[in-house]
Amino acid sequence: MSEPKIAGAKPVVLDLKPGTYWWCACGRSQNQPFCDGSHQGNDFAPVQFKVDIAGRSALCMCKRTGDQPRCDGSHSKL
Ligand code: FES
Repeated sequence: MSEPKIAGAKPVVLDLKPGTYWWCACGRSQNQPFCDGSHQGNDFAPVQFKVDIAGRSALCMCKRTGDQPRCDGSHSKL
């Protein structure tokens, strides 16, 4: 499997409303950190996640997190 593209060197912190979201795993979306369908034809698939209670989340942009879609600090090792 190829490596995902690094979409950003730091997580993006967003206030998310309750709902279902699709996090971009390939790093090629133009609508980071969310999937825009740009993964078509590559080895990656978006990761669905749900937010039950509105709140702030730090979502991974380097695409190396071990806790998709949330930042686990992996960007600090790049
Ligand atoms: S655009 Fe990256 S996973 Fe869909």
